[in-house]
Amino acid sequence: MEEHLTVGRVAELAGVTVRTLHHYDEIGLLTPSTRTPAGHRAYSAGDVRRLREVLGYRRLGFGLREIAALVDDPATDPVAHLCRLRGLLTDQRDRAAAMVAAIDRELEARAMGIPTTPEEQLRGFGAQLYDTIGSAYPATRRTEPRIAARLWAALGDARTVLNVGAGTGSYEPPDRTVTAVEPSAVMRALRPVGAAPCVAATAERLPFEDRSFDAAMAVSTVHHWPDPVAGLREMRRVARRVVVFSYDADETGWRERFWLTRDYLPEFAGLLVGWPPLDELTRAIGGRAEPVPVPWDCADGLFEAYWRRPEAYLDERVRRAMSVWTRVGPPAEQRAVRMLGEDLASGRWAERNHDLLARDTAELGLRLLVA
Ligand SMILES: C[S@@+](CC[C@H](N)C(=O)[O-])C[C@H]1O[C@@H](n2cnc3c(N)ncnc32)[C@H](O)[C@@H]1O
Repeated sequence: MEEHLTVGRVAELAGVTVRTLHHYDEIGLLTPSTRTPAGHRAYSAGDVRRLREVLGYRRLGFGLREIAALVDDPATDPVAHLCRLRGLLTDQRDRAAAMVAAIDRELEARAMGIPTTPEEQLRGFGAQLYDTIGSAYPATRRTEPRIAARLWAALGDARTVLNVGAGTGSYEPPDRTVTAVEPSAVMRALRPVGAAPCVAATAERLPFEDRSFDAAMAVSTVHHWPDPVAGLREMRRVARRVVVFSYDADETGWRERFWLTRDYLPEFAGLLVGWPPLDELTRAIGGRAEPVPVPWDCADGLFEAYWRRPEAYLDERVRRAMSVWTRVGPPAEQRAVRMLGEDLASGRWAERNHDLLARDTAELGLRLLVA
């Protein structure tokens, strides 16, 4: 018969309290497979393996809810979890080493009385936004087939495709040879088993020769790039064809058109400051922009996805997978959610937006740029 460990022994081995293990059991994160005849929790080898995964992700800063989604994923076996944890820990170690080196340089400069610039002081201390919020992404972000069909049609007959800002690879075409580029270690680690190979790099400095790919694509990512025009020019340099799914931030109607930003989250306007106009983006790739309507039941939980399902925005899990909420900050988020909740309860939202219920798609400024 398989040997089981008591809760006390597991706590001792793992360096956690018995209370923590009881809590993991209560929330369904780690339920021991059996009980002793006296009714005490008894952990099998499989339970211990799962605990190791839970603790690994926990130490990397993942939240319990995100960890539950990761360890419950049937497509990720224990070896894939170990490889993913190894990649994330190596990245964390490398970043810590870079910070130590930066501190040493500054200590040395100070000892010699040499002033350091703000750039030198901050180098290596920033975190990629997606290293902070990426773990919440897989909960609701996935391929929307109607948007994928538009993108893949725009790729034409391209056989080799570079996916820039690839994230977990939601829109990578299954029938072509894909290479992914993704700067966030967390997002790279969350790519499914068997996903296309992924290079750690940014759009602004693509580590490829000119014309290395038939096509380059970028989905829901350009607004995160520090220099979108430079990134788009890089895509143009490395590929014959460029396809970008982005949005039109300069059209005056855009903020007004979506009830969420118009009535509840005017702070969204602040995120668009400095964002290049659409014609500058299309010019950077030498292409054209086509509108992409958002289906009412959009499968990819992007910011605009729930325009006809407003209750979804009250769900913390849904919001955490949309960078907008993190970028506007907690006070704006809490106020917007409270106001929306009140308006949904009072019927005010329905009164103001009753015309939406008759529509199947909405024009919310999303654009496909094709060159
Ligand atoms: C909203 S996610 C989109 C991911 C994926 N394309 C998708 O559609 O699911 C945005 C991604 O852009 C990446 N990103 C941020 N800055 C970048 C840059 N300078 N170059 C390339 N990608 C970047 C983020 O790390 C993140 O994975």
